[in-house]
Amino acid sequence: MQVQNKVVILDFGSQYTQLIARRIRESGIYSEIHPCSIDLQDLKAMQPTALVLSGGPSSVGSQESPGIDKGVFELGLPVLGICYGMQLIAHLLGGTVEPARNREYGRAGLEFAGPCPLWEGLLDREGLTVWMSHGDTVLTLPPGFEVLGRTTSVDIAAMADADKKIYGLQFHPEVAHTEEGKRILHNFLFKVAALVPDWSMTSFIQDCIRDMGEKIALDEQVVCGLSGGIDSTVVAVLLHKAIGKRLHCILVDNGVLRYNEGREVVESLTKYFNLNLKYVQAQDLFLSRLHGVKDPEEKRKIIGRTFIEVFEKEARAIPGVKWLAQGTLYPDVIESVSFKGPSAVIKSHHNVGGLPEKMNLKLVEPLRELFKDEVRKVAVELGIPDSIVWRHPFPGPGLAIRVIGAITPDRLEILRKADRIVQNELFASDWYTRVWQGFAVLLPLKTVGVMGDERTYEHVVALRIVDSVDAMTADWSRLPPEILARVSNRIINEVQGVNRVVYDISSKPPSTIEWE
Ligand code: XMP
Repeated sequence: MQVQNKVVILDFGSQYTQLIARRIRESGIYSEIHPCSIDLQDLKAMQPTALVLSGGPSSVGSQESPGIDKGVFELGLPVLGICYGMQLIAHLLGGTVEPARNREYGRAGLEFAGPCPLWEGLLDREGLTVWMSHGDTVLTLPPGFEVLGRTTSVDIAAMADADKKIYGLQFHPEVAHTEEGKRILHNFLFKVAALVPDWSMTSFIQDCIRDMGEKIALDEQVVCGLSGGIDSTVVAVLLHKAIGKRLHCILVDNGVLRYNEGREVVESLTKYFNLNLKYVQAQDLFLSRLHGVKDPEEKRKIIGRTFIEVFEKEARAIPGVKWLAQGTLYPDVIESVSFKGPSAVIKSHHNVGGLPEKMNLKLVEPLRELFKDEVRKVAVELGIPDSIVWRHPFPGPGLAIRVIGAITPDRLEILRKADRIVQNELFASDWYTRVWQGFAVLLPLKTVGVMGDERTYEHVVALRIVDSVDAMTADWSRLPPEILARVSNRIINEVQGVNRVVYDISSKPPSTIEWE
């Protein structure tokens, strides 16, 4: 990538570290996260133009607390320490840090101590409401530092050595609860560090297409599994622009996709992008292996194994394949927090786990540097249709883990019809893009009902519709009752075999989004 400006964030384990990176990138500056245990020479080799030291749960005074090489402060780079990052600056440069008289969690009122580049554009305000989360506090400043701000319980809530461009904030400017947090981060990037924005999705697309065109030799072919989701579609479209027909896309229909989904994805991708795309209809193979299977993990294993088998067979049939394209995103590759040693937690792609080694393929992962929201921006710039850009996440094992209990063609068909109604009504009411995921689940029980003068004994469908930002936590969507009523009426009237619809009002945690 061709960016001149790069902010490296050294991670001390804060839950907000990724948020800092996203905020910086939103400002047009490329930012990467690395574990705080990184070697000083490796850090230098990355040629950062500014550093951020993240927050973290530790206490600088304790023995196991994570530290950094003091040489970091000799690199001549602007540094911003946030929360633990500020305490570490104080600790390493000769100040003192103590347990706070009053631990501060949540909102606090920040008063400015005087003008400084970080507060540019803010001094006409009385102060700011900021978000704190700390048990320790900086008691005395290191030599050369001055106080920039205080709160009622903390005398040193912000500090700086302006000559060396080293700044510390006890509060979290990256969280939305901090007033003007974005402006403070901007001031650090543009006033203190004097960086120039050069990270945009347009430049990413140009660089990415050029880099992939150079990396993949002219006689080499690339294979890419398409799921219909945004990540694999963006990978395919970028690669198609880089190497054209040398990209071979494969969409495997595993028989547990949504209503007509395989066909629709193939039609829209062929129509819009003229991709070299093979639609492999392996429904019968998958469904024969899934028939009667009840255990969710067994369902997942069967689908994963069968996918690899089918995909490998198709990929081997393409002469000259040397590369496998994958939609790995940045959160999947960030080396996990921590001073406990860089432990790379790399999520294996559920669809193609093990394939690259087995087939001796090289990996091409053009989205490795991007967050999900950036992938969406890339997709929009590439002209990918809204129906794919805003498509809800859909699990690899598909409807198989939403037919609770034994899988049979009849039960799958009932679920597929009910799910289609949920999708249609979410679209029709404009709620589709306002929720994270919405779907139907077929329960393994029957209940009594009455239709006309007849008693019925039929299936129950549960609706699972949730709000979330990253699927780590979720809450049930407060859909207007009239939409729920319409979905319920339509399912009971239109899907034969269902006489009851229930709405799942559990949050995650302690529940999960999927039922299996
Ligand atoms: P849970 O149910 O764990 O789901 O709250 C979190 C997110 O992950 C999706 N999910 C899966 N995706 N293979 C996948 O590719 C799976 O086995 C799987 N299980 C859950 C789920 O839809 C939600 O977005």
